[in-house]
Amino acid sequence: MTLSPSLLPEHVVLDDFAVEATGLLVAELRAAVRARGLVSVALAGGGTPLGLYRGLAIMAGDVDWKRVHVFWGDERLVSPDDSGSNYREAFEALLSHVPIPPENIHRVRGELPAGEAVADYVAQLREWAAVHDPRAPHPWPRFDIVLLGLGEDGHTASLFPGSPVDVAAPVIAVTADYQGRPAGRVTLTPRLLNDARRVIFLATGPKKTAAVRETWTIDDPVRFPARRICPANGRVTWWLDRAAAGALTSPA
Ligand code: 6PG
Repeated sequence: MTLSPSLLPEHVVLDDFAVEATGLLVAELRAAVRARGLVSVALAGGGTPLGLYRGLAIMAGDVDWKRVHVFWGDERLVSPDDSGSNYREAFEALLSHVPIPPENIHRVRGELPAGEAVADYVAQLREWAAVHDPRAPHPWPRFDIVLLGLGEDGHTASLFPGSPVDVAAPVIAVTADYQGRPAGRVTLTPRLLNDARRVIFLATGPKKTAAVRETWTIDDPVRFPARRICPANGRVTWWLDRAAAGALTSPA
């Protein structure tokens, strides 16, 4: 299925957050390629990363895209050309504007039934790790960079409040009631995410201030699944704009 790449508007206007985040992420991508010869990135869905994706497209010349492999932290159970597809969002804002080899794009096949989509994505992760990340601690990628958004209810990827905690699988399918409607999703789990070298949470706008503050200050990983993302051998960073940061200082 081919999507027609949308042309970047002639003048893409990036807000300050997107400009800052783009510079930081370009530096992270280049550092990983220098260190290991390639970089594996799990992209986030939702609206927050869009400016960052567009910024990366503008700065395409600063990244060696043939060494970049992209995955997704979660995906909706829809076809890749559906307006709700996280793959479609990233394809239109970024991937269709940079010279990344198609074989470096590892999407969740959301058009499949949930169980098959999970099995297919796990197979993709295992096969990729066997070739490109044989020293990973588990039979899936140790991602260099994981981008994660944060919902107003505190969810991240498709780990929703009340989601099961002791999940041993690296990928699961969930059906969560999201914004008042059932949302069929496939999501990476903390089991896999916590192998990552870098986890970057992205949150912007005043509507996220409470979720950020509560995630940082309330020690309840069931209510605030983002608290379960704490790689033993990795770093977690929060990239916030002033509105989302509110009066926050730093994680407790
Ligand atoms: C998705 C994302 C989800 C998102 C949050 C925040 O599939 O929608 O993975 O976890 O990051 O819902 O979404 P916004 O960035 O649109 O606020």
